[in-house]
Amino acid sequence: MFSDPVAVSVLEPQQVDQVRVLHDEARAADGVAALSEQALLHLASGPSPAVHLLTYAEGDLAGYAQLPGGPGDGSAELVVGLGWRREGVGSGLLDAVVQKVGAGARLWAHGNLPSARAFASARHLQPVRELHKMARPLTASDAESEVSALLPQGFSARPFLPGRDEDAWLATNAAAFAHHPEQGRMTRADLEDRMAQEWFDPGGFILVEADASPGEVAAFHWTKVDREQRATADPGATAGEVYVLGVHPAHQGRGLARPVTALGLAHLARLGLPEAVLYVDGDNRAALRTYESMGFRSIMVDVMYAPTAQPTLSG
Ligand SMILES: CC(C)(COP(=O)(O)OP(=O)(O)OC[C@H]1O[C@@H](n2cnc3c(N)ncnc32)[C@H](O)[C@@H]1OP(=O)(O)O)[C@@H](O)C(=O)NCCC(=O)NCCS
Repeated sequence: MFSDPVAVSVLEPQQVDQVRVLHDEARAADGVAALSEQALLHLASGPSPAVHLLTYAEGDLAGYAQLPGGPGDGSAELVVGLGWRREGVGSGLLDAVVQKVGAGARLWAHGNLPSARAFASARHLQPVRELHKMARPLTASDAESEVSALLPQGFSARPFLPGRDEDAWLATNAAAFAHHPEQGRMTRADLEDRMAQEWFDPGGFILVEADASPGEVAAFHWTKVDREQRATADPGATAGEVYVLGVHPAHQGRGLARPVTALGLAHLARLGLPEAVLYVDGDNRAALRTYESMGFRSIMVDVMYAPTAQPTLSG
C-alpha cells in the first residue's frame, strides 16, 4: 500500500536523490522526461516557489508531483515510479494537486504518452495547451553562413557578456514574452540558475544590437547544447537547441526573426552538431510558420491537461 501524498516546500537531500532515481528510471522506460528543466532545477536549488508532493510505498518513493510555480500558478508535473503504475498513485497525486490549487489546476504530459492519454481520459482531464518539439538537420551551409550577411543593415551580433548583459537581456525577454505564461516571468535568479549550469555557454547566447540603440538588446538567440538532448535521426548524437529566441516588440515586423534564427543555427552547426531542436507553443502560429519555413518539422507534442471546465483546445 502507499501513503497519502506529503507536501513539502524544500526537499531533503535524500528525497532529491529518490526523485532523481524515480525520474531517470521512468525516462529510460518512457523515452521522455516527465519533469521539465524548470522542475528539475527546483529539486535542489535554494528558495523557490515550488511545492513538492511525494507518495511513499513501503518506505520507497512511488510517485512525485511538483507545482513549479507554486499553488498560485497551478501548473503541475507528475510522474509515477515504474513499479507503481495502475495502482492509483497518479490519481492520488492528481487529487492532491487539485486540493492545493483548486479549479485552476493544470497538468503537463510531456510527449503525451499513451499512459498519460489514458490517465487523462479516465480522470476527465481536457487538453488546454500544446507545446510542439520541432527538429531540423544542420547542414554545412548553415555552418558557412556569414554573420554580417545574415542581419539587416543597422544591426550587429555579439555573444552575451556575463556580469554586464543580464538586466538588458531580462528587459527584452520580458517584453518579447509579455504574454507567455512561463518565459515572460523569468527573473534574475532564474537566469543565474541557468548560467550556473554545466551546459551554459555565453558564446552560444547571441545578442543582436541596433546601431541606433547600443546597450539595448534588440533581439537574441540563446542556444543550448546539453548531452541529454538526443538527435532524432541519430540518438547516439547530441542535438543543439534553439533554447530561447526573441525579438523586442520595438523591432518586430522588420524581418529579424529568420536571420536571428539562422545566427544560432550557424553557431550550432559550427560545433559539428547534426540537428537542431526547439519547443514552441501550438497556438504561436507566427513562430510555427517561421520555423516550418526554415525546415523544422514537429516531432513531438507536450500537452497540458486541465481537470475542470477550463477553455479547451477545441473550444
Ligand atoms: C500517467 C501516469 C502519471 C499515471 O499514473 P498511475 O499511478 O499509473 O495512474 P492511476 O493508477 O491513478 O490510473 C488511473 C486510471 O488511469 C487510466 N490509466 C492510467 N495509466 C494507464 C495505462 N498505461 N493504460 C491504460 N489506462 C491507464 C486507467 O483508467 C486507470 O484506472 P485503472 O487502473 O483502475 O483502470 C503514469 O503512467 C506516469 O508517470 N507516466 C509518465 C509521466 C506522465 O506522462 N505524466 C503526465 C500525466 S498527465
